[in-house]
Amino acid sequence: MVIKGDVIVSANDNIPHDQKLDNSITLIQEGYLFIKNRINRYQSDIFKARILGQNVICMSGENAAKVFYDPKRFTRKGAAPYRIQQSLFGVGAIQTLDDQEHRHRKKLFLPYMEIADQKRLGKIVKEEWEKAITKKNKKEINIFEEAGILLCRVACNWVGVPVEASKVSVLAEDFIAMVYAFGAIGPRHWKGRRARNKVENWLEELVKAVRNGKIEINKDSIMYSFTFHRDLDGNLLDNRMVAIEIMNILRPIVAISTYITFMILALHEHPEHVELLRIGTEEDLEAFVEEVRRFYPFGPFLAARVKEDFEWNDCTFNKGTLVLLDVYGTNHDNRIWEDANHFNPRNFHKRTENKYNFIPQGGGDPSSGHRCPGEGITVEVMKSTLDFFVNQVKYEVPAQDLSYPLNEMPTLPKSGFIISNVALTK
Ligand code: HEM
Repeated sequence: MVIKGDVIVSANDNIPHDQKLDNSITLIQEGYLFIKNRINRYQSDIFKARILGQNVICMSGENAAKVFYDPKRFTRKGAAPYRIQQSLFGVGAIQTLDDQEHRHRKKLFLPYMEIADQKRLGKIVKEEWEKAITKKNKKEINIFEEAGILLCRVACNWVGVPVEASKVSVLAEDFIAMVYAFGAIGPRHWKGRRARNKVENWLEELVKAVRNGKIEINKDSIMYSFTFHRDLDGNLLDNRMVAIEIMNILRPIVAISTYITFMILALHEHPEHVELLRIGTEEDLEAFVEEVRRFYPFGPFLAARVKEDFEWNDCTFNKGTLVLLDVYGTNHDNRIWEDANHFNPRNFHKRTENKYNFIPQGGGDPSSGHRCPGEGITVEVMKSTLDFFVNQVKYEVPAQDLSYPLNEMPTLPKSGFIISNVALTK
């Protein structure tokens, strides 16, 4: 064993071990930068640390992502801490399944996320923005809150979940609480957990009512197909699991409000792009949206466990070890992105497709692996919102706190981004 500065390099595997007895507090203090800071310090794409009392391997970059998405090497079973399942995505949900069972469940989602669905949702969202701004006739709009409510309404209609108009804003708040419980301890975590229990209970009752014929819903709806989906053994999923998987569509659609808020912030911080977006093509809109997903922080890292012992990059990965893939750091890796810490939509002009070096919603192939199936929807919803904000509306940005702390996961501009004197221009 050799000690180099504050890092130990083990003679067994030649990779840096962070010297701290436990890094849990440092992880909370450094947030999105925790892995990146050490990757830079140790000049290594991979290091070992102790987090929450267990040995963890942290890794970053395109090659690390390729390994992480090899299903022969990693399993998701037991990877996500129970407290995250109880708040963010639900106990036993698709995120925790492997192999055949995972692929079978994924087939339930994929047919609703095709290009036609993405375009349709983009169009609906734009119409909803028009209505919201016209109807509001309000002096000020909080982009994050308005987008959350608008997207919640769109998502429930699209999935076919019957919800009273007066309940939409509370439901949107509940989904946001689940998302913002991710890296939290204390009250923020408990708020997310309570919100999840409440919404799961409500949806579970709805599923029961559909199954026993007390409520009739459209047979072509996503809710109907989830309610009557059968697992690999030919059994219906239990009511709770249907509720959880329906929430796995509704919640992330509402969560696009975070990206929308960062996107409006990007327009404010980089006004030099606005004119090009006005006169430009759809590709220009898309490049801006993609740069927002690359540059601004949302998901910090992903977790999986080693399936069988293997060696990679001079490191022994022992079966059962928890491995974290650095999402934020890979999206800010200077080897991949020119001037990675600057916002530059040019990064996405004529970009060659690569499944492992741009991973804001995971990497690899969404149909066979765990990559997010909702990326196309996310991009279309953001594109149509961007188009609306640069071409159809004028607004002012009053003084407010637009800072977004990198040690809160997920983070957000503190004010939620307030615009004032808002009016349609066409
Ligand atoms: C706010 C934008 C979004 C972000 C940042 C995001 C991020 C992610 C990430 C990081 C993963 C995990 C990838 C992995 O484990 O390897 C994921 C999975 C997933 N996302 Fe998204 N997502 C977003 C939007 C959406 C949308 C709009 C939908 C559906 C309409 C969706 C549905 C899902 C589902 C079902 C999974 C589980 C996939 C699986 O385990 O196979 N997401 N998302």
